[in-house]
Amino acid sequence: MNGPALEIDSLTLALAGEDGSPLFPVRSLSMRIAPGELHALVGESGSGKSLTCRAILRLGPNGMRVRAGSIRVGGVDVSALSGRRLHRFRGGRVGVIFQEPGAHLSPSIRVGRQIVEALRIHTGCSRTEARHKAETIAERVGLTPARSILRRYPHELSGGMAQRVAIAAAIICSPELLVADEPTTALDATVQKSVLELIDELRHDLGLAVLLVSHDLAVVERYADSVTVLYAGSVAEQASSEEIFTRPRHPYTQALLRARPQLGDIAPVDTPPLIIPGSPPALNAIPGGCPFHTRCPAAEELCRTVVPDLVERGGDTGDARVACHVATRVAGVAHDA
Ligand SMILES: Nc1ncnc2c1ncn2[C@@H]1O[C@H](COP(=O)(O)OP(=O)(O)OP(=O)(O)O)[C@@H](O)[C@H]1O
Ligand SMILES: [Mg+2]
Repeated sequence: MNGPALEIDSLTLALAGEDGSPLFPVRSLSMRIAPGELHALVGESGSGKSLTCRAILRLGPNGMRVRAGSIRVGGVDVSALSGRRLHRFRGGRVGVIFQEPGAHLSPSIRVGRQIVEALRIHTGCSRTEARHKAETIAERVGLTPARSILRRYPHELSGGMAQRVAIAAAIICSPELLVADEPTTALDATVQKSVLELIDELRHDLGLAVLLVSHDLAVVERYADSVTVLYAGSVAEQASSEEIFTRPRHPYTQALLRARPQLGDIAPVDTPPLIIPGSPPALNAIPGGCPFHTRCPAAEELCRTVVPDLVERGGDTGDARVACHVATRVAGVAHDA
């Protein structure tokens, strides 16, 4: 396949607020992920990361609508799917893993059968073929000895093993895209690393595109090729991982980077943790102009009144876009000089 595995164009999602008026938790989001690319979606709690993942899978909460824009996976318009085609799309073209490893698994069914069922639904292959494939994939994701592990019940697995089962089930039908919403947040640090290494290997080996939601910027820097920074439902900045981490242009991205613990840093006990002052706005109170202006140290009059466009800023390492009046002007001045 030559085109992007995931292509989101100007997506705006709507939810009904308590008084019935519409709320827009995601606004004008565009994103492309190529086969084999790992794209990270970052931003504070409530910025719309999980709703974006759910929209891709058409698993949005009740009442969530695509108000504008489109989502395509392997060229297929997700909004146009229904019934059997939608069912086959989920787990067939897109695999998903969530934060809670056990969330995917039925407690009373052996894990092998759960993986096999996914395959049988999507490909209609025989039970023997499916079992053979489940063993192969279990070994591939590090569940060894596969035969004995596949006979276990979910409660007999550690969190890391359960997440490997979830990954096996997510990729057994050879999807084009893996959506991973904080897949390692619930795991111990060492297990986190091994699960991320596995996802990284799989995307290289299988050409799987990955959308990874993570709060952990060290993880994003280590594994992501490209990054979307969301603030209150809109893109603040979008660029290659290298651009984001070496030349962040949006004051919000800069603040996120400053707020993260430095690897190997041992903060003196009396040093307060660095946090971004203030908190993100509620969905029914997103400020006009730039949504970040109320917390932005660089905000000017224009930022309070005019929504900044996401502007190409010519990164050194591929496409880079920033939605900030100040950053765009500074870049323009530098360019003209
Ligand atoms: N079912 C729902 N009904 C109403 N509002 C919702 C619903 N689900 C999410 N929201 C709101 O939509 C916004 C985006 O939520 P989302 O879960 O996508 O955030 P997130 O970026 O994944 O946050 P976190 O980092 O905490 O997981 C939030 O303001 C949230 O309160
Ligand atoms: Mg979330």
